[in-house]
Amino acid sequence: MVFKRNLITAALPYANGPVHIGHLAGVYVPADIYVRYLRLKHRPVLFIGGSDEHGVPVTIRARKEGITVQEVVDRYHNLIKKSFEDFGISFDIYSRTTSSIHHQFASDYFKHLYDNGKFIEQISEQFYDEQTGHFLTDRNIRGECPHCHSLGAYGDQCEKCGSTLSPEELINPYNAETGNPLVKKATKHWYLPLEQHEPWLREWILENHKEWRSNVYGQCKSWLDGGLRPRAVTRDLDWGIPVPVEGAEGKVLYVWFDAPIGYISNTKELCDQHPELGSWETWWKDPETRLIHFIGKDNIVFHCIVFPAMLKAHGDYILPDNVPSNEFLNLEGDKISTSRNWAVWLNEYLVDMPGKQDVLRYVLTANAPETKDNDFTWKDYQARNNNELVAIFGNFVNRAMKLTEKYFEGKVPTATELTDYDRQTLEDFCHVKERVETLLEEFKFRDAQKEAMELARIGNKYLAETEPWKLAKTDMERVGTILNLSLQISANLAIAFEPFLPFSAEKLRGMLNMQSFDWDQLGQTDLLPAGHQLGESVLLFEKIEDEVIQKQIDRLERIKKENEQKEQEEILKNWRPDPIKADTSIDEFDKTDIRVGTVIACEKVKKSDKLLRLTIDDGMADTRSEGQPYRTILSGIALSYPNPEVLVGKQILFIANFPPRKMMGIESQGMVLSAVDANGKLVVTSLTAPVKNGAQVG
Ligand code: MF3
Ligand code: ZN
Repeated sequence: MVFKRNLITAALPYANGPVHIGHLAGVYVPADIYVRYLRLKHRPVLFIGGSDEHGVPVTIRARKEGITVQEVVDRYHNLIKKSFEDFGISFDIYSRTTSSIHHQFASDYFKHLYDNGKFIEQISEQFYDEQTGHFLTDRNIRGECPHCHSLGAYGDQCEKCGSTLSPEELINPYNAETGNPLVKKATKHWYLPLEQHEPWLREWILENHKEWRSNVYGQCKSWLDGGLRPRAVTRDLDWGIPVPVEGAEGKVLYVWFDAPIGYISNTKELCDQHPELGSWETWWKDPETRLIHFIGKDNIVFHCIVFPAMLKAHGDYILPDNVPSNEFLNLEGDKISTSRNWAVWLNEYLVDMPGKQDVLRYVLTANAPETKDNDFTWKDYQARNNNELVAIFGNFVNRAMKLTEKYFEGKVPTATELTDYDRQTLEDFCHVKERVETLLEEFKFRDAQKEAMELARIGNKYLAETEPWKLAKTDMERVGTILNLSLQISANLAIAFEPFLPFSAEKLRGMLNMQSFDWDQLGQTDLLPAGHQLGESVLLFEKIEDEVIQKQIDRLERIKKENEQKEQEEILKNWRPDPIKADTSIDEFDKTDIRVGTVIACEKVKKSDKLLRLTIDDGMADTRSEGQPYRTILSGIALSYPNPEVLVGKQILFIANFPPRKMMGIESQGMVLSAVDANGKLVVTSLTAPVKNGAQVG
């Protein structure tokens, strides 16, 4: 199928915070590379973006900061839009879901599906805060994780152990903001019956789109194999697009219903302003349009299953041809998190690293999490800048420019006779175009950039081996040939890197004084005619020193400490005791022999992180053999007692009739009783007044 035009969308970021490197690496840089490439190929393309301004996170942010939700989304929409402009993300439109065009469009879209019977109505029990009179959404409900039992897990996910949750699974759910306990209350909502769409979705994805990235295909398959269920498309909330149906007061469209429609309404806004682009309907309804969604992996189900079902239910729309989703980028080994400030924010990056947007673009693409999660580290950032951009790309171009200025007054010299080595070099770099192009068409941006970088490597090696600066006295003709070739390679770099490093590619074109260029010139060896006057040379990249990197690392260390402290406070604040165990009896209890003993010695067990060895006077020395008057108990409390000697002299409680057990080569004779604090800290039990060692507890 040959497509006439390309409609490229990039996930609409939530306007609840600035954008960070994870957004850039996962979605916007790859989308931008692809779009710039298509434009260089003169293929018709629209690149659609915008802010996702509904949903719960923006309302949480507003309450936290004591401002209106509109103020929150205004602030972050503008900040995000500016960051994208600063990083050269070349949207044709960057709009927002609070626009009146979008509200109208999404509302009409819902109404259309509603009128055509595409929804089902269901009454369900939802969590409700009686004191505030609000239904709560998943994200606003917190409680104890049923899997790892950490406190403060969210109704949709536990951030500690990563498991996906539903609010029903939480133990002791409470309102995240007020701390109030929750009750269940009935409410009516509209649902998209996904199970009815399952047959065509199966065929469309599993049969007809086997070429999708394996992470995307795999996630779709597991959703489909797990069986689809109806999905609510409305919510009880006061922020969002009102449900345009009678009797739906106080209800809005679910954010995941209206946001993807934002791709369409933003296209409409763009086309209405620019009639020369044609009608938005051609872009969305003509099967000769190729629709591609760039997203992160947490968006896969919405873009591959839910939104297509919405499009199909409407009837007139095309479906995405591909959904190149990335995995996640971590930061220095930890998951990026907006709420925990664990991120490199794009606006802050540019304050600390002015003018270095291409360095970040380069590093993020070189490390793109295309097939698995990847890690961003500042050391790697520095190394890639210094060893690749500066030492290879920049160094090569700089030498070619400087030598031409020195020996040929900045005019491209003539290439005369080519040596075998020259021919070999030309041969090598001619193939680069084909390779980069193939990789880009397959959405393999990391490899594509690597191939593009090959050009610089070839050039750098060529200059290093031909050493024209040594020939200047003896063979100017040869020097001219070498520099001509080097400048042709530089011109190729200026084209090949336009999608990846647009700022540097533009600078380079300025240096080479290239007026026009397009992708199909790539691989040509006569881009700059002999005699062509070069522009002024500037430094493309500069070395980044250790101090600059250390400052960034220090910042992250500081944030990590702050977070740990905050999490501790949060956990202690929300701690609730475990529910009481099932009934037992005095007879059952009596079977356990609990005694009092005095700790005589207490030390860490060698080679074990967790174990302490306690030597206990249990009042039974006369029952033991000579020289061994005490009981030894090993206890897994070492992490809670960094100074074990504080226990020496204390009277404690222990279970005396557990069978002896060997650990780390030592026999443990019982178990020390301790209480577990909210943060997992163990505290050994003790008495309110001294008693004889060996006394029974009961
Ligand atoms: N705001 C969502 C997120 O950041 C993405 C929405 S994409 C759209 O995960 F399709 F809904 F627009
Ligand atoms: Zn958990």
